Amino acid sequence: MIDQADKWNRRYRDEADDLKFGAATVLADNLYLLPDRGLALDLACGRGGNAELLARQGLTVDAVDISSVVIQQLQHRAEAAGLPVRAYLAEASTWLKQSVRYDVIVVSHFLQRTLCPVITEALAPGGLLFYQTWCQQRVDEIGPRNPDYLLRENELLRLFQSLRLRYYQELGTLGDTQCGKRNVAMFIGQTRDGNAV
Ligand SMILES: C[S@@+](CC[C@H](N)C(=O)[O-])C[C@H]1O[C@@H](n2cnc3c(N)ncnc32)[C@H](O)[C@@H]1O
Repeated sequence: MIDQADKWNRRYRDEADDLKFGAATVLADNLYLLPDRGLALDLACGRGGNAELLARQGLTVDAVDISSVVIQQLQHRAEAAGLPVRAYLAEASTWLKQSVRYDVIVVSHFLQRTLCPVITEALAPGGLLFYQTWCQQRVDEIGPRNPDYLLRENELLRLFQSLRLRYYQELGTLGDTQCGKRNVAMFIGQTRDGNAV
């Protein structure tokens, strides 16, 4: 955990690094699915593009990451902008052990398979999960090389099969690879009415 935090802190301090993601496409393109208000979580938030967008849509947002560098930056930025974002320095699995239930959870460019059942449990009844991350089958050499961090074909569908499927896209190398959102899979799922799963 400390090694990982150090690694990410170094990357975020390095201005030349390309870790300047805004909000994930799966969220930015589907804002109309969000509730008008409620509690949201941006897990492994990095620079917090998802958190800021969720807050601008009227949600109160917890943003969690193991990098103290980005957590401090995000907290300052959110306060300056008057956005309801609470940035926390925490490890994802530790954070999810709390009994907080979220109306919306967003996870982008982060994959820890063992966390998927816990993420599902952290959703409130009717809650929405927006998930986007790198696939093994990519068109461009971007994202991690370690296969542990890359999705296999249709894997998000299996990892979150207890949720009601609302949206899924994984284009792989099909058709004209100059078109469409490539390199990632994008999933939106919803807990079933009444109970969390
Ligand atoms: C590739 S970045 C993605 C950041 C952001 N979600 C995005 O899409 O721009 C991965 C992030 O996960 C964070 N991270 C890695 N392991 C973590 C863990 N165990 N718990 C919480 N955050 C973690 C890193 O600090 C880093 O900010």
